[in-house]
Amino acid sequence: MNNDDDLKKEPENEQRRSFLIKLSLGLSFLSAAGAGVPVLAAIFSPLIEKTPKLWRKVGDLNTFKVGTTNLVTFENADPEKWSGVTSKSAAWLRRDAADKFTAFSANCTHLGCPIRWEADAHLFMCPCHGGVYYKDGSVAAGPPPKSLVQYPVRVNKNAIEIQTSAIPITNISA
Ligand code: FES
Repeated sequence: MNNDDDLKKEPENEQRRSFLIKLSLGLSFLSAAGAGVPVLAAIFSPLIEKTPKLWRKVGDLNTFKVGTTNLVTFENADPEKWSGVTSKSAAWLRRDAADKFTAFSANCTHLGCPIRWEADAHLFMCPCHGGVYYKDGSVAAGPPPKSLVQYPVRVNKNAIEIQTSAIPITNISA
């Protein structure tokens, strides 16, 4: 081989290099799109799709004594098949009278931590940042920006049912 042969092959090599670069960029774009579309769909679908509101049984009427506040659990309105125990939500259910119930979301309105009912103090307490709520769910102290969210409750024959909805966390859904 001499220098003339090398000079003849130079444009051919340049074309091949250009083609391979374009092919590589195209394949990179396709694989990024293939991986990115499902991720973007998972991120934005909750903003587009409305969570259905369903009535879920949380116990029998005679399970709850008048004047008591009990933690109840129920399945989310829109659970994924793979979600296991994370498909459960919780609420604090109070029996105010024989036929009157109030259900408070078990999630703090600050950042969503689970709150607990302190029966002796008649307060809901949040362990995360010291949020405190009065018996009626209004804010008593700490950073929570608003009262506890209440779920609609109904007595259906002998069952107590709570109407589910998306977990109400102020800083995400407000
Ligand atoms: S999450 Fe309850 S006070 Fe911050």
